[in-house]
Amino acid sequence: MFKFLIEFFKNPKCIGAVAPSGRFLAKKMMEPVKFQNASCIVEYGPGTGVFTKELVRRKNNKTKLIVIEQNRLFCDTLKKKFKNRPGVYIVEDSAENVNKYIKKLGFEHADYIISGLPFTSLPQEASESILKETQKALGRKGRFITFQYSMVKRKFFEQYFTISGGLLEMRNIPPAYVLVMRSGMAQNK
Ligand SMILES: C[S@@+](CC[C@H](N)C(=O)[O-])C[C@H]1O[C@@H](n2cnc3c(N)ncnc32)[C@H](O)[C@@H]1O
Repeated sequence: MFKFLIEFFKNPKCIGAVAPSGRFLAKKMMEPVKFQNASCIVEYGPGTGVFTKELVRRKNNKTKLIVIEQNRLFCDTLKKKFKNRPGVYIVEDSAENVNKYIKKLGFEHADYIISGLPFTSLPQEASESILKETQKALGRKGRFITFQYSMVKRKFFEQYFTISGGLLEMRNIPPAYVLVMRSGMAQNK
């Protein structure tokens, strides 16, 4: 928690929150995932690993989980936390490079991308690039799952995806919406 706050003060736009998400939101983020059928799951922006913990606990040993975190300190902590877990690949990089890691493991597409990225504070260019790469990474069947504290970015997401579901988690500070998206956008870029 303290580590998170320090990293926030060093780089507020990139970290995007003063504290990690709570466990209720972590569980809500998992609800749309059919773990039995997933071969490849990607997580963006895990921070201290609140969602990673749930993903690792629920996934099959055969399912590959690619965890992409840009912050070195968080990345090092995650590598220690999940070091002996089968099929877990933690990489220090930007989510924009997701396709490189999916291909490296021999997949064409990921089944799910779970995102903790702060799209409301990230630079517009970076957000656009991440969403374009996410579209490619998911192909026609994959699902993109992210949480937001407000719906201000809804239209932005809809330039790339169709929002196929929404879940509200009140037991988080602040309350958060979980958005589930799939390919098939109204106005593709
Ligand atoms: C709001 S925090 C969320 C952390 C965690 N998922 C949670 O909910 O508690 C956002 C995280 O995204 C990471 N991040 C920001 N931009 C990124 C990028 N382009 N690629 C990968 N990670 C990024 C930050 O370093 C930070 O750890």
